[in-house]
Amino acid sequence: MEVITRSTAEQAVRLVAKLLEARIRTKPDAVLGLATGRTMEQVYAELVASGVSLARCTSFNLDEYIGLSPEDPNSYRSYMNEHLFSKTDIDPANTHVPDGAAADLKAAAQDYENRISQAGGIDLQLLGIGEAGHIGFNEPLSSLMSRTRDKALTPVTRAQNAGMFGGDPDRVPKRALTMGVGTILDARELILLATGPAKAAIVARAVEGPVTSMISASALQLHPNCKIIVDEAAASQLE
Ligand code: F6R
Repeated sequence: MEVITRSTAEQAVRLVAKLLEARIRTKPDAVLGLATGRTMEQVYAELVASGVSLARCTSFNLDEYIGLSPEDPNSYRSYMNEHLFSKTDIDPANTHVPDGAAADLKAAAQDYENRISQAGGIDLQLLGIGEAGHIGFNEPLSSLMSRTRDKALTPVTRAQNAGMFGGDPDRVPKRALTMGVGTILDARELILLATGPAKAAIVARAVEGPVTSMISASALQLHPNCKIIVDEAAASQLE
């Protein structure tokens, strides 16, 4: 695990976008693992501005709320359409987001794993981190071997994500379909981006604490090719 600190959030974001762009330029048919959330919005804006072609890329998002249709404005499919897919030349048929509206969630989860395998695995997975240490929606006590599955969201996560739901945590769906920690660790390269003081404590625990299923992001310590990119605020509790 390599920790890279930049003075400001803007610089950290720019570095992540540059690394993503460079990977796509060296491998135009890259299989990208994508994340949503506030932290990623500027990364996608920078990537769009770079003008790099995603025409041959395939993408797999980490997660989706259960019970929201892809058309719901709060779905992660809508987020991706708004921030990236509609602004680039990626082929919509090559973009994948877990199907949170599926009648059979177990089958949808297995299908997602199969599609990732059929695509040859993920070359580069982007990650954010939740204030309780989740990656994807792997909340505390997610097995480090877990695969794509249905997961209950904690009150911390529902409060953190309430902004998209009019500020009301009760309107945030209670469950999500998420890649597992094991699914994420299978990606060939991982880049986690964390910015701002609210992430400082959890970044320190994930990077310098013990590997534990209480903090899914600590599992990244086990990955041979993982960069943690932080601004000074998010790095402030690192030793
Ligand atoms: C989103 C996801 C989450 C977020 C994390 C940080 O697809 O998988 O793990 O990356 O909750 O979210 P923000 O960036 O909103 O703080």
